[in-house]
Amino acid sequence: MDKILINGGKPLAGEVHISGAKNAAVAIIPAALLVEDRCVIENVPDISDVDSILQMIVSLGAEVEKPDCNTVVVDATNLSVNVVDPELASKMRASYYLMGALIGRFTKAKVPHPGGCNFGVRPIDQHLKSFRCLGCEVVADDIFVDIDASGLQGGNVYFDVVSVGATINAILAATLAPGKTVLENCAKEPHVVDLANFLNSMGANIRGAGTDVIKIIGVGSLRGGTYTIIPDQIEAGTYMAAAAATRGDVVINNIIPKHMEAISAKFEEMGVTIEEYDEAIRVKANDRPLKNIKVKTLPYPGFPTDLQPPMIVLLSTVEGTSVVTEGVWESRFQYVAELEKMGIKIDINGTVATIEGGAPLKPAELCATDLRAGASMIVAALACNGVSEITQLRYIDRGYEHIVDKLRAIGADVKRVDD
Ligand code: EPZ
Repeated sequence: MDKILINGGKPLAGEVHISGAKNAAVAIIPAALLVEDRCVIENVPDISDVDSILQMIVSLGAEVEKPDCNTVVVDATNLSVNVVDPELASKMRASYYLMGALIGRFTKAKVPHPGGCNFGVRPIDQHLKSFRCLGCEVVADDIFVDIDASGLQGGNVYFDVVSVGATINAILAATLAPGKTVLENCAKEPHVVDLANFLNSMGANIRGAGTDVIKIIGVGSLRGGTYTIIPDQIEAGTYMAAAAATRGDVVINNIIPKHMEAISAKFEEMGVTIEEYDEAIRVKANDRPLKNIKVKTLPYPGFPTDLQPPMIVLLSTVEGTSVVTEGVWESRFQYVAELEKMGIKIDINGTVATIEGGAPLKPAELCATDLRAGASMIVAALACNGVSEITQLRYIDRGYEHIVDKLRAIGADVKRVDD
């Protein structure tokens, strides 16, 4: 079993390059199934979630090439299978994007319920509602969602909750649906916009992505092309947290500063110096003491829920009481039991975490319990004097490209070993 060993307590310093966005890649790769032609997708992160979604589309008949580790070529001209294997789908949440993509290509599709990180109940009712609003018949049993899309056409969808996945699935379903679709109360995350930009660059007619209302005129077909995925906001935020938690000074390259605004604002409120450049930000936490703050996670443009775990670790290094309210998921604090092994003091009451910060962290053996929880354990180990170890790296491998090499390049004493 692989584990990461970190001899922490050293301020990180130097430059780190951010990879392409995981949550854009896992939507854009299924979207390429709507194109009966070659799509060259660049800046794809080299992570296991991408491998899993590629494996799924290959099982459906798409041809996939990887000319290098960050470029994927998808040709779905000969897509022939409309049923997704439950074992493959159980590996990740984004397998649900095959619903929206397959009903654009076939009159019927059978896609299993998705897997993914456990944050309590993760319903897909809004995805299914959107398919129904677009003329589909949908029947879900314990394993599969069975969709009859013979009546697929444009329609109006009002989402009862702001959902990234449901917004993306509805865009996928509506792209080739005859007529006009209006989606209201949409998610505005950068990866929703990136998906729409990808589809538009292939000939779709999608307007308003990044706002509450998205309007789509169905087109007859899409053409191939080349598209470059946006940088990963959450990977960048994780390195920001690592830089600040170690009281370091790190330049984070290849980012879109606009996507980082809510995060930078909270770091500045803590007393971290943030310098913004065209495609980079510098995070400097070594010139004054940091302050405790309150944070609430919200859909974009709010503070992202996926950075809640690294933010909690950062706040545990700051003197005083900080409060973090989880505003997206009903149960995203299970991992704190692992952090408590390091002496971090966190009290959980429903969706509110109260952190008594400032006590020195103790090295510990930690088990990653999900992707971002695993990343937060790495941040904690970097901030802690002594050697900590982290296991269950398969979670971290799902979403962080070459994390050990990137951390070493900014001065971390870290290695990955096979036990
Ligand atoms: C996406 O999940 C991301 N995953 C998650 O990132 C992220 O935490 C989440 O968005 C919120 O930003 C991918 O993009 C693959 P939602 P998603 O639908 O789309 C409720 C990571 O670590 N809801 O926006 O599944 C739901 O219960 C992962 O990279 C319904 O009620 O999230 C939640 O409370 C973890 N009904 C809220 O909406 C639905 O039909 C937001 O969920 C759908 C969602």
